[in-house]
Amino acid sequence: SDESFIAYAAAAPNLALIKYWGKRDSRLVLPLNNSISVTLDDQLMRTVTMATASPEFAEDFVELNGKPVEVTDRMRAVLQSLRQRCQRGQDLASWKVRVATRNSFPTAAGLASSSSGLCAFAVAVARLADTLRWLSTVARLGSGSACRSLFAGFAEWSAGQRPDGVDSTASQLASAGHWDLRVLVCVVGAGAKSAPSTQAMARTVATSSLLPARLSCLPDRLAAVREAVAGRDFASLAEMSMRDSNCLHAVCADTYPPVHYLTDASRAIIDFVHRLNEASGRVVLGYTADAGPNVCLLAQPADVHLAAGCLQRAFDIGQVVGDLGEAADNSKVPSD
Ligand code: PMV
Repeated sequence: SDESFIAYAAAAPNLALIKYWGKRDSRLVLPLNNSISVTLDDQLMRTVTMATASPEFAEDFVELNGKPVEVTDRMRAVLQSLRQRCQRGQDLASWKVRVATRNSFPTAAGLASSSSGLCAFAVAVARLADTLRWLSTVARLGSGSACRSLFAGFAEWSAGQRPDGVDSTASQLASAGHWDLRVLVCVVGAGAKSAPSTQAMARTVATSSLLPARLSCLPDRLAAVREAVAGRDFASLAEMSMRDSNCLHAVCADTYPPVHYLTDASRAIIDFVHRLNEASGRVVLGYTADAGPNVCLLAQPADVHLAAGCLQRAFDIGQVVGDLGEAADNSKVPSD
C-alpha cells in the first residue's frame, strides 16, 4: 500500500584482529574488552537487506536468501530499540516489519555472517525509523561484532565503562584505502556447526581461569595493533593477530566444558603459516580464526599469489581470495 515504508542497507563482514570475547552486560551486549577488526571488501562478501514497514503486516517477519528464518531475541532487541527511537511518529513505531536479507557468500560457511547480517539489519531498520543516531548501540544489540561492520577499513569497538553502555561504541581507526591488505579465507569447515558465541562466551566468563590473564595483556596488544595500523607495519599486525587468535582459542579450551572451534584442518593451516614464515625469514602471512573452523590469512598484495600457490599445493581447501576495498561505510550515510 502507499502507507508502507521501505529501506535498504548493505554491510560486509569484519574480521576481528583483537577479539571480543566475554560480556560485562549480556542484556545490553557490553563487552569486557575493546576489539579491533578489519572489514572485508564488500565486492567480495556482502549482505544486502531490505526492510519494509506497513500497517498491514500482522507480525515481524525475516527471511534470509529467500527462506523464512526465526526472528531471534537479538533481532527483536534491535527492533524494539528502534521502535522506541522511531522518528516517523507513533504509527510506524507500532507497525510490523518485514526484513529480507541476502548474503553474497555462503552463510553456513561461518564467515562472520552475523557481523554483516546484523549490521545490515540494524541499518535498514534504522533507516525505516528515520533514526541513524545510536547505530553502534543498535547494531551491537543484534550481534556485538556487528557494530564494527558499520565502518569500512579498520574499526575499534570500545568496551566503555558506563553501566548504560553509551560509551561502548565503534569507530573507524583507518579507512580501507589507508592500507592495501589482502585476506585469504580458508574454508575448511563449511558444514561444521560451532557453539553459538553467546553461550560459549558466557561459559568462558563463568569458568575460565585464563580469561583474566587474557584481559590483562590486551591493553598492550591493542596499542600494538593501533600502532601497526597507523604505521602500516605488516609484521607487527600479523603477529598480534596470530597471538590474539591463539589466545582466544586457548581461553575457549580452558572453558569448562571446553569450547572447540578449531579442527585439525584449521591447525594444519596455522602450522603451515608458521613454517612458511620461518622458511621465508619474514612474516609473509598472518592468520586469525573466529568462532568457527575457518582460518583467515592476512597478506600483503605482493605475497598473495605466492601464498595462495603454496596453500593450494599443501591443502585441498576451497578458498576465497579478496582484498580490503571500500566496503559500505554506514557511518557516513545520509538518513534518506
Ligand atoms: O558478535 P558475536 O556475538 O557473534 O561474537 C563474535 C565473537 C568473535 O567473532 C569470536 C570475535 C569478534 O570480535 O568478532
